[in-house]
Order: sequence, then C-alpha cells, then structure tokens
Amino acid sequence: MRLSVIGCGYLGAVHAAAMAHIGHDVIGVDVDDSKIEVLSRGDAPLFEPRLKEMLQAGIASGNLRFTTDISNARGAAVHFVGVGTPQRADGYAADLTYVDAAFDALVPHLSPGDVVAGKSTVPVGTATRLAPTVSSTGATLVWNPEFLREGWAVQDTIDPDRLVVGVPTDLSGERAADVLREVYHPAVALGTPFLVTDYATAELVKVAANAFLATKISFINAMAEIAEVTGADVTQLADAIGHDVRIGRRFLGAGIGFGGGCLPKDIRAFAARAEELGRGESVAFLREVDAINLRRRDRAVDLVIAALGGSVFKKNVTVLGAAFKPHSDDVRDSPALDVAVRLRGLGAWVTVTDPQAIANAERLHPQLDFVADRDEALRGADVVVVVTEWDEYRRDLAPEHAASLVSSPVIVDGRNCLDASAWRAAGWTYHGMGRP
Ligand code: UGA
Repeated sequence: MRLSVIGCGYLGAVHAAAMAHIGHDVIGVDVDDSKIEVLSRGDAPLFEPRLKEMLQAGIASGNLRFTTDISNARGAAVHFVGVGTPQRADGYAADLTYVDAAFDALVPHLSPGDVVAGKSTVPVGTATRLAPTVSSTGATLVWNPEFLREGWAVQDTIDPDRLVVGVPTDLSGERAADVLREVYHPAVALGTPFLVTDYATAELVKVAANAFLATKISFINAMAEIAEVTGADVTQLADAIGHDVRIGRRFLGAGIGFGGGCLPKDIRAFAARAEELGRGESVAFLREVDAINLRRRDRAVDLVIAALGGSVFKKNVTVLGAAFKPHSDDVRDSPALDVAVRLRGLGAWVTVTDPQAIANAERLHPQLDFVADRDEALRGADVVVVVTEWDEYRRDLAPEHAASLVSSPVIVDGRNCLDASAWRAAGWTYHGMGRP
C-alpha cells in the first residue's frame, strides 16, 4: 500500500521505516530540512536499535523516501500523522500547535477514500474536533495511538502487543478499520489483538496506559519513601508483591523515577484535560504521582550530600548515565541529567558519562563535564552516582576495578541496579534508594 507519514521524529521515523520493512511504499514528510536530509541518507537521527539498518534497506529497495514537500503525500491510501505534542510552555496541557499545523498542511492534498490515521498522543476530544475538516475532502479520520517504547521502538512497531483504532461511528469507520487491518496485516495475521473503538476511547487508551505505568512506578517509589524511614528494603518488597500475577514485577523498579518525552508530559496533559472536562478530581492522584516522582530526584541529591558528609561543594562527583533510560540517547526530562545538574548547582565538580546520550546532554547542559570513556570518568571521583542502568554500569563494571580508579569508594545507586553485597564486599560504601 502507498502510505505517507507526516512528522519524522521518534514515532514517525520509526513508523515510516517499519512500514517500508513490512512491504509498503512509504513517503515520510517533515518540515525540518536537516532531519529529512539525514533520513534520506539512511542515517538515524536518534539512537534506536535496528533503525539505521531498516532505513537503509527501505531506501535501497525504493520503498522508503523522505521529503519536506507535503504535496508528495498525495496519492497515499493512508496518511499517518505522528507529530509531537509537547507540554505547553505556559502550563500542563498539551501543545497542539504541531498537530493542527500538520492537519492544515495535509488536508489540501487528501482525496476521497483516503484514510488519515492520527498517531500523536492527544487530549481526548481532538479527533472529534479534527474529523469534519478531514471528511470534507471525502477522506476518513481514524485515531491509531502508538505504544512503542524507546529502545524497543522497531520491535514494538512491527510486533505490537495490541493495535487500537478509534473510528467514526458510521460506515466510513468500518471501512477505515479494514484499511488499517490491511496496513498492519503481518501483525494481525499473527493474532495481535486489533481493537476498534470510538475516537474518545482510542485517545484515552493511550493516556490511560501511560498514566497506569507512571502510577505503578510512583507507587513503588512511595513504598521506597516508607522503607527509608523504617529500614525496610523496597527491592525485596517489589520482588515479593510482584510474585502476585495480579500485580506483576515489571515497572516496580524503585529509584530516581520516570522521565522521558512521554510519561511526565502525558500525565500532566491528562490531568489538565480532565480539569477542562470538569472531572479534575478523577485523576487528581496523577498530581501526586508526579510529585512523588520528582521527590525521588531530590532524594538522590540528598543521598549524595549525606554520602559526602554534608556538602558536595568542590567534590568530584561522577555521574554514570545521562539518558532517561538505557538503550536510548534521549535526555528529555531525564531524571539522570536532572540529578547531575542539581549537584553542579550545589558546587560539585560533576563529570557525566553515558554510552549514547552525551551529545544530546551536552547541548542542553554545557556547564557539566562530559567524558565518553567510563573509566576515565570514574578516575578521582569522591562519589559515584548511578542514574541510568546501562549494562556498561550494571553488569560490566566490576566493583574491584571501579575501586582502583576512584578517590573514595562511595556509590549511590539511583536505580537499585547493582548487587549491593558485591560492591560492599569490594570495599565500597553502598547507598541504594529505599534500601538499608
Ligand atoms: C513509555 C511507555 O512505556 C510506552 O508504552 C509509550 O508508548 C511511550 O511512553 C510513549 O508514550 O510514547 P518510554 O517513554 O520509552 O515509553 O519509556 P519507559 O520504558 O516507559 O520508561 C519511562 C521511565 O520510567 C524511564 O525514565 C524509566 O527509567 C522509568 N522506570 C521504568 C522506572 O523508574 N522504574 C521502572 O520500573 C520502569
């Protein structure tokens, strides 16, 4: 099928490449010249396993092209819109500027029978607002939220755990759902659940899923706060409750909390939208989820201060990690980088290392010292702080070797990802989060 993908950021670039990979003829469109130039060369503008290979294969086969000229979307059977919906500068709500601009630009190029599939995460009610303009051209709007995780984006796009399509409640909706079934044929044929809903449900599924995940993380971090005043161990607690299949162990990793381009802004936008709808109290707990999450960053900073005897001023602090999570070079609302910046603000000499995210982190925070080599970064540290659980730190860094590099063997494990007893046995003073 001929497809267009409007917006070639994280979501769009991966979607375009993955759709070409499964055999569609795809044109990716973005307003950013430099991004289109990079993608047209077959380079990935972001670190995502398998993306570069898939871009190169798609371009070589002629199945995948990129352009800044949206008129080239003309003739595609399905137009996916995957532009960003960041947090507004003046509040918690989502900024829909890019969504509205993308629809304004696309609509003149639509033909009767086309399907427009919104993929951006939007406040509930957005599809209903945009639908009349789309249907005035004879095309049909559906909302098809995306559940990919950074670091697993290619796999999640090709083999998702579910597909959700919100459609209008008339015959055009049924037809459009069939078109989307055809687009996702390989996954549908493998039995991937394909749920057809109305617009509002599809929009809400997306934010509800992220709200649930954020709540799960903040729940365990709230338990960490209680563990801290009682001497309990939150990681053992998580293991124990996680054995209950109704609860499950995943997303019960206590530490410095969640960040990234999705969870934080999505729960805020959800709370803001609920208030607009007169149902603010229904998700008021999301404010608490956000507050617990942000307190964990303070807690990590306090642990470092305490570990250094009360002040970080002019102390050498080595921060292992800058990305908001491993397997990603994304530093948007990264708790890791936030902790590093706060320590620098308190007068510490902060050295940050990360296997992938240094270039992005340095652009945002040039006041920090960045060192690509892990061992070089560790040399002379008065305290080491682990804030992103990359394998390079969690699995591959031997405590004896690390001890030979630092000035003082003191470590704060902001992700509870290290074997505390192994580090203690190697002479380190180990501080976890919510662990004695
Ligand atoms: C999240 C969702 O997991 C995806 O399903 C969704 O599609 C995506 O947002 C989106 O809306 O686009 P992502 O932002 O890639 O995906 O990251 P997650 O894997 O959810 O991790 C989010 C944050 O939570 C990270 O900072 C991670 O370190 C933190 N986290 C995760 C914890 O602190 N503890 C855990 O147990 C798990």
